[in-house]
Amino acid sequence: MPVEVQARVEELRSLLHKWNHEYHVLDQPSVSDAEYDQALNELIRLEEENPHLQTEDSPSQRVGGAPLAVFEKVEHTTPMLSLGNAFNEEDLRDFDRRVRQAVGDNVSYVCELKIDGLAVSLRYENGLFVQGATRGDGSIGEDITQNLKTIKSIPLRLTKSASIEVRGEAYMPKQSFNALNEQKEELGEEPFANPRNAAAGSLRQLDPKLAAKRNLDIFVYGIANPGTTGIASHSEGLDLLDELGFKTNNERRTYSGIEEVIEYISGWVERRPGLAYEIDGIVIKVDSFEQQDELGFTAKSPRWAVAYKFPAEEVVTKLIDIELNVGRTGVVTPTAILEPVRVAGTVVKRASLHNEDLIREKDIKLGDYVIVKKAGDIIPEVVGVLLEKRTGEEKDFHMPTHCPECGSELIRLNEEVALRCINPECPAQIREGLIHFVSRNAMNIDGLGERVIAQLFQEKLISNVADLYRLTKEQLVELERMGEKSASNLIEAISTSKNNSLEKLLFGLGIRHVGAKAAKTLAQQFETIDRLKEATVEELVAINEIGDKMAEAVVTYFEKPEVITLVAELKELGVNTTYIGPKPVNVEDIDSYFAGKTVVLTGKLEILTRNEAKDRIEQLGGKVSGSVSKNTDLLIAGEAAGSKLDQANKHGVEIWNEERLIQELNK
Ligand code: IVH
Repeated sequence: MPVEVQARVEELRSLLHKWNHEYHVLDQPSVSDAEYDQALNELIRLEEENPHLQTEDSPSQRVGGAPLAVFEKVEHTTPMLSLGNAFNEEDLRDFDRRVRQAVGDNVSYVCELKIDGLAVSLRYENGLFVQGATRGDGSIGEDITQNLKTIKSIPLRLTKSASIEVRGEAYMPKQSFNALNEQKEELGEEPFANPRNAAAGSLRQLDPKLAAKRNLDIFVYGIANPGTTGIASHSEGLDLLDELGFKTNNERRTYSGIEEVIEYISGWVERRPGLAYEIDGIVIKVDSFEQQDELGFTAKSPRWAVAYKFPAEEVVTKLIDIELNVGRTGVVTPTAILEPVRVAGTVVKRASLHNEDLIREKDIKLGDYVIVKKAGDIIPEVVGVLLEKRTGEEKDFHMPTHCPECGSELIRLNEEVALRCINPECPAQIREGLIHFVSRNAMNIDGLGERVIAQLFQEKLISNVADLYRLTKEQLVELERMGEKSASNLIEAISTSKNNSLEKLLFGLGIRHVGAKAAKTLAQQFETIDRLKEATVEELVAINEIGDKMAEAVVTYFEKPEVITLVAELKELGVNTTYIGPKPVNVEDIDSYFAGKTVVLTGKLEILTRNEAKDRIEQLGGKVSGSVSKNTDLLIAGEAAGSKLDQANKHGVEIWNEERLIQELNK
């Protein structure tokens, strides 16, 4: 091998590392893009011609290598914790008070922007980037090294030959996010809800070439184990990170009093929209490592830091109209039709107004300018009206006196605020009832969504749930946008649903007050629909979990002549009306870890769905409960487990991850 080639490869790498750092970290390019590309192409060519010269830290590695089959798991040497939250000035002052109580009055705080992206950990050995991982559950994350290498502001080689692990936030700049979503919309694909999801989705691509196209960036905000570096404070740590070639955020400031911190935060409430990336708050950290050590940690987060969260984004838009929807139970709900507006990452066009009382309370009129936000950052909500924008042209809104679908008179039952249509033949209720019948927790018929049900109903092919089982493939292919293949699949799915256990049918029938859980109890207790049909109120209320109201509703339901006919028809058509799940057994008879234990599931599970996990635990004699208390025996914590994990820690409850759960279930 000619020595010159090796020397040239090394020269190109040094140049490219330097230019890359100037461009992506310092924002001070010294060469043109063309010059950069030319050098990179030359390097790629030389490496291809001389494969033995390829190295892991070469700038050529940033274009994305071969796709992976799965991400390997990575155990974090230092756990990746999250932060406690502060939502207002009072919370911040409380935090300050706690800190001062523990370490005295001589405190400095470093304030940083809280970048809305994905926490990652980057490990360097002798100055070379060797492994990058997601946070995962805080102890175990996923190896996304190949994807992280495509982020140009992550140095593949440090300026010093240090061995260090750093933490930072990978994110997608607003501009790249908007461009990506426009592209997705053009392709008819679902856009990402916000830049955080886009960044997470990109970094969890198994094909690094896709990640490379996503223009991700990073801010590094800490050293995993700063004790080894000989520095004394967080701010010195950030300076060290700069020196090593990392991209840190330079909006950080150090203050000695909480009032100055509050002022810094107020400044960012104003300046936030002008940033090129999304932030969701400000992080406040005690600067001195000695004081950090004194303060220590709770189970989940350091006591020396807090995250101030900005209030949900609110925008103003015009209320064009109020639409009325009749639900399965006949409740008529007003929905605001809005001039489309972007809130917290997505375009909002509608928001539920719930009922007339709420419209009165908020004094909402047609044509008003309204303030909209997303509750929990997901569900659009009308917060209030801009009275000063009224022109006098706005119109009062009144709920109708008659059902917008069937015209029968609407009534208020008992003390309810809701208005209801009580006509059992109301087409809207029947249609919504059919949609409920096929839904996931009910008969779970794949491919039968709202649109197809509405079409079938419109075409008078179905008028009750029994009709679904009379449909033929020939009828289905006649429908708009229904191909041969979909029609066959649908017939197959409908047919498969005949074998469901009784509780799915019971829930699907939509008996008042009978939710999925009660349906299961009823199915287990009575085993067949015929026995349930004969049940008296007394028999029903004798069952734990069944109250008066539900018992009455069940008896009334099965007395109706049309229900008697419907049940007979369903049986005739081959729909199973028997409980085929496991019998409620005496837990003492079950030989399993879960027998008689109360288990709580929290966070996102990766392999099992929540329902699957619940079913399996129950089959093994466990009880799955929704909240942690002193009676909880075990908590299964998935990704991003939140307050339940805290609670479990507080009560000293045993905690497992999903892997451990599956291990036990498979025994
Ligand atoms: S410090 C032990 N600094 O916010 C504390 N976090 O719940 C480590 N984040 O998971 C976090 N910007 O993903 C820190 N400047 C910043 C941050 C930041 C964003 C994220 C991070 C963490 C979450 C805190």
